[in-house]
Amino acid sequence: MNKSYDEVYKRSIEDCDGFWSEVAEKIDWFKKWDKVLDDSNKPFYRWFQGGQLNTCYNALDRHVEKGRGSQIALIYDSPVTKKIEKFTYEQLLQQVSLFAGALKAIGIEKGDRIVLYMPMVPEAVIAMLACARLGAIHSVVFGGFAPNELAVRIDDAKPKLVISASGAIEVTRLIYYKPMLDKALSIAKHKPDKCIILQRPEVMAELNKEMDIDWKDFIKSAKPVDCVPVNATDPLYILYTSGTTGTPKGVMRDNGGHAVALRWSLENIYDTHPGDVFWAASDVGWVVGHSYIVYAPLITGCTTILYEGKSVGTPDPGAFWRVISQHKVKTLFTAPTAFRVIKREDPSGSYLSKYDMGNFKYLFLAGERTDPDTYQWASNLLKVPVIDHWWQTETGWPITANCLGIEKMPVKPGSSTKPVPGYDVRVLDNDGKEVPRNKEGLVVIKLPLPPGTLPTLWNNDERFKESYLKMFPGYYLTNDGGYIDSDGYVYIMGRVDDVINVAGHRLSTGEMEEIIAKHPDVAECAVIGVHDTLKGQLPVGLVVLKSNSQKVEDEITQELVKMMRDELGPIACFRKVCVVSRLPKTRSGKILRGTMKRIADGSEVVIPPTIDDPVTLSEIEEALKRIGYARKDSEFFVGCLRLDERL
Ligand code: COA
Ligand code: AMP
Repeated sequence: MNKSYDEVYKRSIEDCDGFWSEVAEKIDWFKKWDKVLDDSNKPFYRWFQGGQLNTCYNALDRHVEKGRGSQIALIYDSPVTKKIEKFTYEQLLQQVSLFAGALKAIGIEKGDRIVLYMPMVPEAVIAMLACARLGAIHSVVFGGFAPNELAVRIDDAKPKLVISASGAIEVTRLIYYKPMLDKALSIAKHKPDKCIILQRPEVMAELNKEMDIDWKDFIKSAKPVDCVPVNATDPLYILYTSGTTGTPKGVMRDNGGHAVALRWSLENIYDTHPGDVFWAASDVGWVVGHSYIVYAPLITGCTTILYEGKSVGTPDPGAFWRVISQHKVKTLFTAPTAFRVIKREDPSGSYLSKYDMGNFKYLFLAGERTDPDTYQWASNLLKVPVIDHWWQTETGWPITANCLGIEKMPVKPGSSTKPVPGYDVRVLDNDGKEVPRNKEGLVVIKLPLPPGTLPTLWNNDERFKESYLKMFPGYYLTNDGGYIDSDGYVYIMGRVDDVINVAGHRLSTGEMEEIIAKHPDVAECAVIGVHDTLKGQLPVGLVVLKSNSQKVEDEITQELVKMMRDELGPIACFRKVCVVSRLPKTRSGKILRGTMKRIADGSEVVIPPTIDDPVTLSEIEEALKRIGYARKDSEFFVGCLRLDERL
């Protein structure tokens, strides 16, 4: 008989060794582990100590060996280039082992880092898996980041090699990656040995004979190679994510725990099984792309879809329904913003009627809170369960979800349901005391975190402790605020730090402030994430100009928008700035960003008792009104970020 969610959850917390060692049987090991959970070096925990495996072997070779070779592993669907290509497990294995052979031939070995700056093409997946095959550590940088961001990551990861492409196609616009890569290399202090460049016929690049190797030439005389056994605790990848400062955090992922957790998650959370078609409509540059475009579906023996397009405009708001129908997708995972955009362009969902959605069973949403409107619209239209689930780059897989593969629980719109087995989720007040049910506080996870989550930050144990473990010893601080209701359902209300979510992309307002502060006319600034009906949040800059500045608001806005695109990238969606004479602060000098955000969103504002000069708030309100915010009729849900001024 199938176990209930409560039974599975209880076991995962009370007997984590027993639970995870059973789950780990679904992974092929070269050497079995000595210890399931190694807690001998608290607060650092390691899973499957002593075990040896290879992630690429689990994603490809074993499926071919066990008769899945002719099943489609990867479907590349690219409306922007009008191409659809399919790779069986056998074909993908051939290409990956060949590319790994080429990497090995130039001296890449276990532990070396390789930075990937790639669009959504099969070669990105091939390169990731080839790194895993050799035990090399990949670090994928999202293509929407500007050269400076790429340079910061190169300097931290210190790669031997960069793998990139000549460019990308954003709907109809060509984006030239090669000049951006060259600029990044000129900024970075660390110099990789070589760059492998995939030439795309739509966006050809001029290669530098000294530094660059054309992907085609690189593999011309390569010989396929086998998998290198690595320790379960060896790093598989580093993925940089926004923190509160200009230096991103290098989230490290190990091999063993990651493979075990992802394999379990696909069946137990997503109810998706070997042979099913799974589609994560995200990008390989984000954690969702790592976990659910590449690793989880392939480790499970599913067919995964790599979609180079958007939810609208490629070519119309029926794009997602076309992919689902054409490739017989069972499970779609995307961000709510992708659905809000479809809803805006096709409110009645008329495009859906053109497609046979017979195989489609589930829609999973994450990256930001699913607002009840989007939930209702998608549920009514698609008539399948719509599941909001919550997780972070750091965890690599969901923290709270409706685990459909275990037991489907009733959906409560606005909640991401209950903690996933393995995660002991609690809500604390600022003093570290657990708050009663239904009361908002800081959402934390009692240590140890389950397998597959970050064991530390790349080369930075201190920052790992400082960022996540110091505030409440024994707990991982998620930096999200929220509450648990009387039925045990978790509600995530928003970040309590300087991180914002723009169109499902995680960005740091602190980093944006550092960029704005470089402008010679700016004396002081603050960036806040204001509510946006389409993208969830958008950044808005409030700047105080130096007394001798002659700039007017429009002029400084244009200059700052350009700086932000050049230094952080277009993905920041930074377009709005207002000039003010002062920023509101507490008497101790802390800028009241949360209060300004509430003013911008039209939410109720309680004037903090520690404010230095309450009059400043009226000026802020007027300034925000000038750029279209601070409307009293704002539909923004109240409650978000109530906590941030207290931290
Ligand atoms: N390379 C270069 N530029 C990129 C890029 C890439 N890979 N991805 C986005 N950009 C650019 C866009 O072209 C746009 O540029 P513009 O300001 O010159 O127009 C800018 O970055 C902002 O992009 P975005 O916010 O994504 O807006 P959009 O209108 O292009 O797309 C959505 C809107 C909602 C369709 C898209 O953001 C989306 O699908 N989001 C879901 C994200 C997701 O899956 N997150 C993972 C969690 S599930
Ligand atoms: P990222 O690391 O890019 O995955 O972003 C993680 C952050 O996105 C979390 O800390 C949350 O603030 C937010 N987030 C992700 N999924 C959800 C969700 N389902 N509900 C609310 N917030 C979410």
